[in-house]
Amino acid sequence: MASSENTLAFKHDVLAGLAATPKRLPSKYFYDEEGSRLFQEIMRLPEYYLTACETEIFAEQCDEIVSAFLADGNEIEVVELGAGDGTKTAILLKRLVAQDPAARYAPIDISEEAISELVANFRATLPEITIEPQVGDYLAILDSLKKQSQRRKVILFLGSNIGNFGEEATTKLFRSLRSVMNDNDLLFIGFDLQKDPRIIHQAYDDAQGVTARFNLNLLARINKELGGTFETENFLHYANYRPIEGSARSYLISRVEQTVEVAGQTFEFGRWEPMFMEISQKYTLSMIDDYAAEAGFCVVRNFLDKREYYCDSLWRPRAK
Ligand code: AVJ
Repeated sequence: MASSENTLAFKHDVLAGLAATPKRLPSKYFYDEEGSRLFQEIMRLPEYYLTACETEIFAEQCDEIVSAFLADGNEIEVVELGAGDGTKTAILLKRLVAQDPAARYAPIDISEEAISELVANFRATLPEITIEPQVGDYLAILDSLKKQSQRRKVILFLGSNIGNFGEEATTKLFRSLRSVMNDNDLLFIGFDLQKDPRIIHQAYDDAQGVTARFNLNLLARINKELGGTFETENFLHYANYRPIEGSARSYLISRVEQTVEVAGQTFEFGRWEPMFMEISQKYTLSMIDDYAAEAGFCVVRNFLDKREYYCDSLWRPRAK
């Protein structure tokens, strides 16, 4: 996608969100260069257990996971949606190339920065694997997956990235994935599980305020790329967890009555007016089963960490 088209979509989505009641901004735009850097900092926070859990699963259950990937044969293509810096995936891929030297890795990420860092990392630490990186929105790239190599695909969607989608969008995404998969392809998805609500809450409201800076960075990005006039000091990061819905939510709250201009349009914020920023859904194992069934998949196997905070779920298309 040309970068002018990206800017156009960004502008369109931001203006629509600011005009809506209640106001909202789409979290998929968090990941510019600074946002990707801040997310890496989040992944190293003591409160943000998700990354440590998924790393533990990969490190401790690497053999079982790779064997499951290769159950139907070698020469697979691992396609990763929202690859980020690929650190966790490297653990699996290292084991994979040992068993399947012809395996290929196709990482896809919206951040150009993240992808070039990933490629550099892999060249240095895992030169054995053939990498075919792509930059872009993975929903848009989904279609090209169909036309990609005739190899058996294992599609990775890690880090509980699915949590940012609402219920409907989740089913829609899994169905679209099903529609571009062949009957012997696999889908491997990271789900953050429901747990002590206080632990979840802290993960989105860390003591050092990195998550707050991560949210506020989207305002700075709007200022830079869309000629916005947000004063970030005028907004407060607020995160909560709703145990009934099983979802963490974050908001930026206007501390004062203020007027903000974006791309030539003006928007009024009342004092303490909230702007919705992000949903991070948490799952039960039965929700995972239900999503799989609804989208035409069977759960092959769930891989959980020792504390059962997190689940990497391996799905295969259900025979029609
Ligand atoms: C990258 C979507 C998995 O929702 O946990 C981290 C993003 N937001 N802290 C998440 C995020 C605030 C993260 N995901």
